[in-house]
Parts: sequence; C-alpha cells; structure tokens
Amino acid sequence: MLFPEGVAIDGRTGAVKPETGRYAKRLSELRGLFQDGDALERVVAEKSDPIVYEVVDYRKKESDLCFGTTIMSPGRVGNEYYMTRGHFHLRRECGEAYYTQSGEGVLLLESRTGESRVVEMLPGVCAFIPPEWAHRSINTGADKLVFVWFCATDAGHDYGEILKRGMRKIIIEQDGRRVVADNPNFGR
Ligand code: PA5
Ligand code: NI
Repeated sequence: MLFPEGVAIDGRTGAVKPETGRYAKRLSELRGLFQDGDALERVVAEKSDPIVYEVVDYRKKESDLCFGTTIMSPGRVGNEYYMTRGHFHLRRECGEAYYTQSGEGVLLLESRTGESRVVEMLPGVCAFIPPEWAHRSINTGADKLVFVWFCATDAGHDYGEILKRGMRKIIIEQDGRRVVADNPNFGR
C-alpha cells in the first residue's frame, strides 16, 4: 500500500526529496538535435560535454500520477538555445502540466496536425500541455530554468518522430533577442 507524504521541491535547484530516480542529458547525447552540428562539437570540447538538463522524479508505479522536476542549464549551440529532446506521449490521451519555478524559457508545442504554439515559461506560470501535443522546453535565460512537471505515471515518451524530423519552429537568439523562427531543416 502507498502512504501519503510531503515531497519537498526546491524551486531554485530542482531538488526533490525524497526522489525516486533521476537522469542527466549531456550535450554529446543530443547530437542531431541542433541546427549547427559543428557548433555542438565545439561546445562539447570547450565545456567538457556539459549537462544540458537533468530530470528528477517522484514516481510510484502503483499510482496513476507522478511528478518531478526538470533542471535546464543556460547555454546555446550556435544561435540556438539549450533545449530538451521533445516528445509526444505514448498514451495519446495523456496531457501534462509544467509549473515553472525559476529562470525563464519557452515551451514549444506542436500538434499532430502541425500547428505550433509557444507558451512562456516564467516563475509562477503553469503551462497546460493538452494530449496530442508534442512538447519541448527551451532555456532562453542566463540562469537555470527549473520547472515541476505533473503527468500520468504510464504516459510514456515517444521521441521517434521529433528526433527524426525536428519541430517546425526553432528558438534562436538574433541580435541579442529571442526569436521564434521556421526550422529550415524541418523534415530532413
Ligand atoms: O515528461 C515530461 O514532459 C518531462 O519530464 C520531460 O521528459 C523532461 O523535461 C525532459 O524532456 P525530454 O523527455 O523531451 O527529453
Ligand atoms: Ni511529457
């Protein structure tokens, strides 16, 4: 039987206590995600393969609901900000919520029918991710971006499609400003 408990979440560090699991994604594991492959290799070499993001969870397989944090480092590959892989949920009826705690970024979403949306990730904003929308978070700020996510335990991650074709939009820095641009390599 499961028992209730309070889980302490640090909105600055993303620490979850108690935690049930975690993983880190380093830049070398994200090859192919960014527009500029040469720039990626340069950052991997110069910054000793930095951690782009970490995911910490509180997940009980006997429960339908789980939550956790994602902690994203600030940084860019060429003019493109650090981002997560992005995914649809395997169970198509599952949505999710991203509650930003610190930092600033954008949540880029894409529906199965090809519509794109951007939701600001700012402290205090809880982004609603409806079912059937692929989602990727992007740290556009100078500090860590930390958010809490809430999801069905068995929602599952379907990375295949986004990994293969990319998303229709990219988030880049242009003249010191954050810009949403068309992905010139979409579908390639
Ligand atoms: O379930 C989610 O949407 C998040 O926990 C993400 O998995 C997390 O932010 C990492 O992103 P991704 O799984 O796309 O690499
Ligand atoms: Ni998700």
